[in-house]
Amino acid sequence: MSASIAVTRLIKPHGGTLVDRTGERPEGVDGLERITPTSRELSDLELLAIGALSPLEGFMRRGDYERVLEEMRLESGLAWALPVCLSVERPPQGDRVALADPSGCPVAVLDVEEVYEYDKEREAQQSFRTTDGAHPGVARLYEQAPYYLAGRVTVFELADPPFPELARTPAETRASFAERGWKRVVGFQTRNPIHRAHEYLTKTALETVDGLLVHPLVGDTKADDVPAETRVACYRVLLDGYYPDDRVVLSAFPAAMRYAGPREAIWHAICRKNYGCSHFIVGRDHAGVGDYYGTYDAQLIFDEFEPHELDVEPMFFEHAFWCRACGSMATPKTCPHDMEQHVFLSGTKVRELLAAGDTPPVEFTRPEVAGVLIEAYRR
Ligand code: ADX
Repeated sequence: MSASIAVTRLIKPHGGTLVDRTGERPEGVDGLERITPTSRELSDLELLAIGALSPLEGFMRRGDYERVLEEMRLESGLAWALPVCLSVERPPQGDRVALADPSGCPVAVLDVEEVYEYDKEREAQQSFRTTDGAHPGVARLYEQAPYYLAGRVTVFELADPPFPELARTPAETRASFAERGWKRVVGFQTRNPIHRAHEYLTKTALETVDGLLVHPLVGDTKADDVPAETRVACYRVLLDGYYPDDRVVLSAFPAAMRYAGPREAIWHAICRKNYGCSHFIVGRDHAGVGDYYGTYDAQLIFDEFEPHELDVEPMFFEHAFWCRACGSMATPKTCPHDMEQHVFLSGTKVRELLAAGDTPPVEFTRPEVAGVLIEAYRR
């Protein structure tokens, strides 16, 4: 089947059209007022440029922002879960500004549509379900400048990707899926090394679809998450040893973590739909942090949408573990045995083992993955 025919078999982007906000460097950029977004905002800028946030073409206007906070819908009524906003210290003078990278170099222009004040506590409560400044996403929100600057962006300089061989735009992942003749593709978001539980989820999901997109997030994460370089080394050894090459695409998702739990699960699903995924895995405490969310809140939130609204189909999984009595991976849905039979290690426990140079049990993580992690801890 030719790629162009197969493309049409894939799920449509959110809102129907894949946005491309990359473009030529316009005249007169150097004379424009310059704004330096935060690294999270720069990640969002890149996502906007490559169409990962379709149908958004820029940072949100107040109408979209308000309705997203209150109803999880854009002003148009299209489902959307989290604000995508650019904070600034003061309203700019002109109707166009330059957005600069951390070194001060302009990378994009924004055509100013609106500048508005916003209430950080309200946004925190609506997006993160808490106003607690100890929550990493809320803490970052509280540090933001007081105004939001809205407008369409044109990005003429994309940041060098941290893992060039894993950098694929939504158009590129769609083309890869199409080349392979896939129609039903399940997306897997992760910010952790892939342990046996994650492997179980992804392989169980893959049993019912054509292909799997392993899509680790490589933007900002909190300091105690495993760094992306180490994780990427883990993904490679795991995929090389345990996944069929012709059924899996590994690519990086250049977003920052927000740790918004349920709302982020919706946001993640919509983004992966733009990358061409018809299905999306949501397990236990997806995008959660600490005790802010219930174990399955990120699944329950999908009930707040009509099925056709999101189009992308969530695949829910309960807490997965190795069961000694079953002699396999299982979840409370499929295993009748007591917890004593279950092998599951908390993140803290894993870190303790690795720091001591001990290999976590093979029922928890593959030896090749453990090897990469132990090596990383030694450094
Ligand atoms: S996340 O912040 O990106 O969600 P993580 O990389 O830990 O964190 O999880 C990736 C996906 O796997 C999420 O959908 C999460 O819910 C799911 N998951 C992680 N561990 C388990 C587990 N033991 N059982 C079921 N689902 C899990």
